Amino acid sequence: MRVLVIGGGGREHAIVDACARSGHEVMCTPGNPGIAALARIISGPQDADSLAELAVQQGVDVVIVGPEAYLAAGVVDACTGRGVPAFGPTHAASRLEGDKAWSKAFMTRHGIPTAQHRAFDNLAEALTHAATCALPTVIKDAGLRAGKGVTIAHTHAEAEAALHDIFSQNSGQAGASAVIEDFMTGQEVTVLALTDGVRYALTPPSQDHKTIFEGDTGPMTGGMGVICPFPLPAEALAVIQSDIIERTLAGMRAEGLPYTGVLYAGLMLTPSGPKVVEFNARFGDPEAEAVLPLLESDLAQHALDAVRGHLNPDSVQFRAGASAVIILAAPGYPAEPQKGIPIRLPPTGAGEIIYHAGTALQAETLISNGGRVLAVTATADTLNAALGRAYALADRVDFAGAQLRRDIGARIGARAETVPAAGPESDSV
Ligand code: GLY
Repeated sequence: MRVLVIGGGGREHAIVDACARSGHEVMCTPGNPGIAALARIISGPQDADSLAELAVQQGVDVVIVGPEAYLAAGVVDACTGRGVPAFGPTHAASRLEGDKAWSKAFMTRHGIPTAQHRAFDNLAEALTHAATCALPTVIKDAGLRAGKGVTIAHTHAEAEAALHDIFSQNSGQAGASAVIEDFMTGQEVTVLALTDGVRYALTPPSQDHKTIFEGDTGPMTGGMGVICPFPLPAEALAVIQSDIIERTLAGMRAEGLPYTGVLYAGLMLTPSGPKVVEFNARFGDPEAEAVLPLLESDLAQHALDAVRGHLNPDSVQFRAGASAVIILAAPGYPAEPQKGIPIRLPPTGAGEIIYHAGTALQAETLISNGGRVLAVTATADTLNAALGRAYALADRVDFAGAQLRRDIGARIGARAETVPAAGPESDSV
């Protein structure tokens, strides 16, 4: 098949890698220097109509959309309108991620377990409510903020500052601009469902680490590292399937918004059962970089089957074993990431891959070009071995001032195990 992947970060590098492993001809726009080793990069306008035209011109069999902003901009609708299968929700269905106030109201309508909340479309009312909230409390921008629109406020002053920030940026969408919700305790887990709107296949559960500093401290980021699989108890998995994934798909159908693509359920395993922290409308980033290296079956075929409305969940197969992703972020991230720092990548061994998240080429030199720069990934038979390999590989990357967390996996007691170096496989880009 000819596959067009839209996006240019670590998640899209992992999607391209999965499609290339299955022998497909892969194109990517806008791509990045790492993706260029596996796919034909096509640069050009990134609006929905131009991308759909590109897919037509290139005779693409299926489009896979990575980032949420393209979904919200209607890329899937534009492709569908031109007869090109595109894997991802429509603009209307992507509201499940794009408008957090709508999403919370949807969960309430359909009995999907989530934290108690209130949504506000004006600052004064939000501040009045926040002043009386039990602490800590969670303040969310209702619109898209690349994973950085959430503040866990431990004082009323922090809650106030977060609300001022949201309303001054005016980045909320469709009515309410801020959501204030109860803080939930427990382990966080990400469950991804590939779905045709009715049938679905779950990927192995994973766990992201969202704050910049170790011990889950500091500002929120897009995600600093992932372990996969997360050891999810069978009872929790059963509740997640019946009360969260299936109710969501049924609810979206009932509201005339059938949902195709990847449904990302960000969950908290609370003492009273799993609850939704947030829904996203696409693969997680960096969850994709952990989950997709374990996929043995054909992602592009699953995407096409889902778009055609006949996904076969049994055909979605993952290998046994585990994976770990360590993010190398630029100095200054998340507030002011430093761009233009030269990077030298080491060779990778079997089961190791360095996905490019925010890189560029300046002449022949690879440089940092974003906040999260590299997603250093390893797979192995056990999680501890995968962590050992991923940290050893991350330590061989030459990237001055890079930030990384040394405690990925620590929340579940996983720890990097010293493992013999993997045999040589390739030179990284
Ligand atoms: N890793 C969090 C996200 O993809 O939104």
